[in-house]
Order: sequence, then C-alpha cells, then structure tokens
Amino acid sequence: MQIGIPKETRAGETRVAATPETVKKYVAQGHAVIVAAGAGERASQPDAAYEAVGARVGSSAEALGADVVLKVRSPDPMELAQMKRSAVLVGMLNPFDAESNARMAAAGVIGFALEAAPRTTRAQSMDVLSSQANIAGYKAVMVATNAYQRFMPMLMTAAGTVKAARVLILGAGVAGLQAIATAKRLGAVIEASDVRPAVKEQIESLGARFLDVPLLTDEERAIAQGVGGYARPMPQDWMRRQAELVHERAKQADIVIATALIPGRRAPTLLHEETVRQMKPGSVVVDLAAAQGGNCPLTVPDEVVQRHGVTLVGYTNLASMVAADASALYARNVFDFVKLIVDKDGVLTIDTSDDIVAACLVCRDGAILRAA
Ligand code: NAI
Repeated sequence: MQIGIPKETRAGETRVAATPETVKKYVAQGHAVIVAAGAGERASQPDAAYEAVGARVGSSAEALGADVVLKVRSPDPMELAQMKRSAVLVGMLNPFDAESNARMAAAGVIGFALEAAPRTTRAQSMDVLSSQANIAGYKAVMVATNAYQRFMPMLMTAAGTVKAARVLILGAGVAGLQAIATAKRLGAVIEASDVRPAVKEQIESLGARFLDVPLLTDEERAIAQGVGGYARPMPQDWMRRQAELVHERAKQADIVIATALIPGRRAPTLLHEETVRQMKPGSVVVDLAAAQGGNCPLTVPDEVVQRHGVTLVGYTNLASMVAADASALYARNVFDFVKLIVDKDGVLTIDTSDDIVAACLVCRDGAILRAA
C-alpha cells in the first residue's frame, strides 16, 4: 500500500504523524511511503532522515493522494479535496466536530479518529489523548515556571530564604498527574482537585495533597464515578462547593494549572473571575482547557494575558511546543493503530468487530458512523 505523510497545515501545528522510526517499519512491511517535503522539519526530522529509511520525499499533493494518509490534525477542505475517495485517513480528527465529520464523509474517505479509542489496556499503545496530554501537562509547568517571577523550589541562601511555590492543579487526569510530577521535581508544594474519587490515591502517591470536596448525595456519588474513565458534568451544588474550596486554595497559590475536561462538552468553569481577582499579584494560571472554552472565563485561547495582576496562559497546543517527542510518541500510537487495519500481507482489512477499530471509525462510504 501507499502511505502518505502530509505536512500539517494548521497554524501552530509543528507535529508530524510519522517519524523515521515508524516509516522504517512501514517500509519493512512492504509499504511505499511518501513524505511531503518538510513534513517533519518542525519536529526536528529532516527530509533526508526519511529518505535514509526508504521513504520517498514528494509534494503535499502526492502525500495526500496516497491510499492511506496519516495526519496529526483533521484535514482542511483544501487537503480533503486532494485525497482519493475511499482513501484511509488516520489522525486526531476531532470526532466531536460534526461539521468536519460531514466534510470527511462527503469526500468519501474512510476516517479514523484516534481520540475515540476506548480507554482499555489493549488500546493503551495507541492512546493519543494520553501520549499528548502527558506532554501538555509537563510543558504547562515549564510555561508556568517561565512566566512566574519567583523560584519554584525552597532555597536557603546567604541573602535569605526563598519559599517554595504553591501549585494548584485542577483536574488530575493524564495531563494533571504529569503536571504534579513535574512541579514536584522542581520543588513546588502541590494541591490537586478532581471529581473522580479514584484519583485521590494517584495524587497522593505523587506527593501532592488531594483537595476533597465530599460527595453528599447518591446522585453526586454516581456521577463522580464518570463513564469509561472520563468525568461527567457534576451537579451544580457540588460545583458550587468545589468553587468555594478552589477559591480559598487559589488565593494561597502561586501557580494554577487547570486541565479539567469533559469529553464532547465545554470545559467546566473552575476558576471564576472573582477568584482570579483575589489571587496574589504575579500568580500564573495555565489553562490547558483553553480550546474547550477554558476552566477560567478570563483565559484567551492562544494568548498570554494579564488580568487583575495575574498572568493567564491560554496556549491550546502545548504538545506542539515539544514537537520532537510529541511526534515520536504520536507516530508510535498511529503505527500501532495501522497494525489493526492492515493484515500481515499488507492488505487493508477493516474489521469492525474489533472494538478499537469500530470506536475510531468516523465515516466510510459517504456515511457518518459516529454521532458527534
Ligand atoms: P480528561 O482529559 O478528559 O480530563 C482531565 C481531568 O479533568 C479528568 O481527570 C477529569 O476527571 C477532570 N475533571 C473533569 N471535571 C472536573 C471538575 N469539575 N473538577 C475537577 N476535575 C474535573 O481526562 P484524561 O486525562 O484523558 O483521563 C481520563 C481517565 O482515563 C483517567 O482516569 C485516566 O487514568 C484514564 N485513562 C485510562 C487509560 C487506559 O486504561 N488505557 C489510558 C489513559 C487514561
């Protein structure tokens, strides 16, 4: 089969869907790989590195015209127009975007959105949400540290003592847990909040304090269990009690890293304007939920703004700021997924009785197969 690796066109997108490491494996399996010139450049992978493992470097049109197209982000209309009908498209296609699903279906491509893979043990090696959120959680701490005008660790110097930074993490999923681990390594004192009681142990095992908002009713207890490992929107009364606790803790914090998400919905508001107003001057908020509406209403997507003496960072693609490693991990996720849809003779075999294949399949033969 022909496998195409286009250069990503979305603004700020620096990642690439295949690295020389994975291209070498595709070639070893007998596939012909066409990499668009410059596709890996921003992820520190020059064209020559792809050629060295047997790929052909060509134009974007050639890469998009392949039987199987591997992408990072969903294609824009111009890219889709260059794809063959019935071509296979694998990427982070944003399965909750109904318009994009309809566009891909109309183009006749067979689209697989990797974000839709189930959170099961077998799917772990192709879990793009985890591989990229892990990087975002790490980079969020780096970005916060840069914007913060003080030290992270406690220091005792001849000129006096410097206090350790207090970091508050909202949402302790993959990104939040990595943010805790990273901030801990830098010497910060950390507190974290999540709706799912199951994460208490994980937070504590990383050396942070769990902010407990007790679950008072059967409804709260049931919703807090989440579904498929994901959170569900909590009842208003619980959200109010959480906001009160977050308000108190944020006033003491130097850095807040907000990562709370609910799949397919607007991100929950956890850090209200009044709370930001009462935070210490010079505090930093990194809102990883900026693309989904933000955990703080003052966040501006893709901008760094000052509000009430607080720096709010709204970068929506932190993984792209660690492009080489983000691409390396993403490319391995993609490679493991492609193994599921190509048999050992290199022939495309889409087996929808496989739960991962079925969950990721967004469109085929002109039909949208997944409710956005
Ligand atoms: P996510 O990115 O969808 O959300 C981030 C975090 O925000 C979650 O922990 C969620 O509970 C939390 N959150 C939502 N509303 C909140 C609120 N009002 N206040 C505070 N926190 C709130 O989640 P992510 O990182 O994708 O992880 C979801 C789950 O999936 C985790 O339990 C993770 O361990 C699990 N997982 C399982 C895998 C597997 O078994 N293969 C692989 C990866 C993750």
